[in-house]
Amino acid sequence: MMVNDKILELKNLVKKFGNVTAVNDLSIPCIKRGEFLTFLGPSGCGKTTLLRMIGGFYYPSSGNIIMDGEIINDIPPEKRKTSMVFQNYALFPHMNVFENIAYGLRVKKLPRKEIEKRVLNVLGVVQLEGLEHRKPNQLSGGQQQRVALARCIVIEPQIVLLDEPLSNLDASLRVMMREEIRKIQKSLGLTTIFVTHDQEEAMSMADRIVVMNDGKIEQIGTPLEIYEKPTTLFVAAFIGYVNLLKGKIKSRQNEPLTIATDLGEFFNMNEELKGFKVGDEATILIRPEAAWLEKASLKRERNTFKGRIMSFTYIGYIARYYVEVEGQELPFIIEISNPGGRGILKKGEQVTITLPSKFHCIRT
Ligand SMILES: Nc1ncnc2c1ncn2[C@@H]1O[C@H](COP(=O)(O)OP(=O)(O)OP(=O)(O)O)[C@@H](O)[C@H]1O
Ligand SMILES: [Mg+2]
Repeated sequence: MMVNDKILELKNLVKKFGNVTAVNDLSIPCIKRGEFLTFLGPSGCGKTTLLRMIGGFYYPSSGNIIMDGEIINDIPPEKRKTSMVFQNYALFPHMNVFENIAYGLRVKKLPRKEIEKRVLNVLGVVQLEGLEHRKPNQLSGGQQQRVALARCIVIEPQIVLLDEPLSNLDASLRVMMREEIRKIQKSLGLTTIFVTHDQEEAMSMADRIVVMNDGKIEQIGTPLEIYEKPTTLFVAAFIGYVNLLKGKIKSRQNEPLTIATDLGEFFNMNEELKGFKVGDEATILIRPEAAWLEKASLKRERNTFKGRIMSFTYIGYIARYYVEVEGQELPFIIEISNPGGRGILKKGEQVTITLPSKFHCIRT
């Protein structure tokens, strides 16, 4: 990595409101220029507070925000290289689209001609040409969203801060806007920090996801790492559903790793789990789409256990089965694709669940 690839660093950031610690000693060593980073976490975990500190709207209780190698804690928002779209996108209701977008440029006292040129250009980028004379209340939710985005990027910031910018849109517009934002971000090379509590939104948009919980970082990683290799149970359960099976490492001679559980021994060819030693407690994580389900057979084969179908949901492209397994508190949830082609198993049927030969475990 080249030195100037790094644009932002957060170092031991803390933000307290009275006795509430909204952000708790949080560090991100390197946010890269042009990167699309997502803060993902449940309501109240500190996402907005963190974003507002980066934008200069809150002063940190302690710690540092370092941009291009300089501590910027004292720099006011308008003098930072950041621009923020707020959670409720806060358009000025009495101004038309043009004036809303031009606002930041007027504050900077740019010449009138230059303002006009830049506003018209950005209207093209967000595909709102022709709507510049409308007031916010004469626009659809998606159009207002794009005005907020245009107002943010027109000042040509280096870092764009977006706080749940799609939360007020309906499902299909949301998906369209995801792609639109990503396209604009890539074409302008904007470093983007995007806050959401929607895991699918985070997965589909981000280069890296920062999973937050209770003012702290649980894990930072690519969408693939976060989904396939969560490092904590919180991350595993927050990103989609996961079946958990408690066990203990029994042996690891010559591979595979053997894990003893209440349901028998399971063999794991996953070479990424070298750190585990015999005797370690490990929880096996199995995503619903990662295991196989079929009518019970008499023979016990490797990595299988038995259960009974409690219920299922047919969703067309998959069938989701809830399988009761003796000795387990929760049913196993298994999804099988193309149920129309494969045939649907019935409620009450005895089944065999087969785990994959490689699976992920968390030290517990
Ligand atoms: N100005 C404030 N005064 C007091 N407490 C605050 C203030 N702002 C935020 N908090 C508290 O700090 C914590 C983090 O809030 P924050 O708004 O950062 O959460 P969030 O992750 O953005 O949540 P959401 O997904 O609901 O928007 C919460 O417990 C909240 O109640
Ligand atoms: Mg918030």
